[in-house]
Amino acid sequence: MALAIICSGGDAPGMNPAIKKFVDYAYKKGKKSYFIYDGLEGLIDNKIKEANHKDVAGIVHIGGTIIRSSRSKRFFEYKYRKIAYKNLKEHNIMGIVVLGGDGSFRAMDKFSSEFDINFVGIPSTIDNDIYGTKYCLGVDTALNVIRDALDKIRDTASSFNRAFIVEVMGRDCGYLAVVSAMISGAEICVIPEVEFHSKALEKKLTQEIKDGRKYVLAIVSEGSKQTSEIHKWIEDKLGLETRVSILGHIQRGGNPTVYDRLMAFDFTIKAVDYLLEHKDFNKVVVYNDGCFNFMNIQEVVSSKYQLPEHYLDAINYLD
Ligand code: F6P
Repeated sequence: MALAIICSGGDAPGMNPAIKKFVDYAYKKGKKSYFIYDGLEGLIDNKIKEANHKDVAGIVHIGGTIIRSSRSKRFFEYKYRKIAYKNLKEHNIMGIVVLGGDGSFRAMDKFSSEFDINFVGIPSTIDNDIYGTKYCLGVDTALNVIRDALDKIRDTASSFNRAFIVEVMGRDCGYLAVVSAMISGAEICVIPEVEFHSKALEKKLTQEIKDGRKYVLAIVSEGSKQTSEIHKWIEDKLGLETRVSILGHIQRGGNPTVYDRLMAFDFTIKAVDYLLEHKDFNKVVVYNDGCFNFMNIQEVVSSKYQLPEHYLDAINYLD
């Protein structure tokens, strides 16, 4: 019986170290390992190949994923899931390690309710929006990319009388925005989870500008969909010329940080051990307060991730 690994949905830095550890560790455990290329699309198209040491040599420092990923529309249809199942059986694959976000876990949950599929998910998304885990693979690298961009933007912002708005990713979750605002000392942070209090903040910043403040840095989460609104608000109400930087997909790239490499190794070992040692499958490896654990996929996909309360407090500039 063999094990396979697949990446699904948005790629995240740390996937390659996880893929390397998967192949090396499966070998150590005497198991054949397979790559499923191109995510769930590749699973439907039978892009399944046996992996060996040469495939994973020299990849630990590279961002993205060497086995590629996809967002599959076809996988929503039963007939394609049936084909995917047949492909797995053909290769005698008894368990899959799934690197993905909650969309991918939802797809696997559906798949496993219809066919006898065993998988363990590793939360892998820069959004850090998966219920049940405080950490998802790729977040530390993405935050460091954002930190680097913000440090540079502050250099130019502080050289002019200007405001800068930096839009960060995160889908519907404000995690990247809040943490970036905290570590850069941004004056404004706008996230989907919290209503933006423009009146009180306007009063506070107007006073600060009167007192000599020369520039303002605002972090806006893409999920708030308020970038243009905040732009107009700063120019109209605070009277500062404003520039907007949308960081976009650079946040998904870059060499995984030390933390993401180490987390990738630990997450993968836990996932493989679980597949080899247990009979109740379809779990997600979760990481909380320094400990790894396993959560039922149904629980993970049926609840919504909540930002920690103290993060919300940190961006309440009005107290
Ligand atoms: O989920 C990761 C993520 O990068 C989100 O932050 C973003 O909203 C989305 O994926 C972008 O998706 P795509 O790569 O399909 O444009």
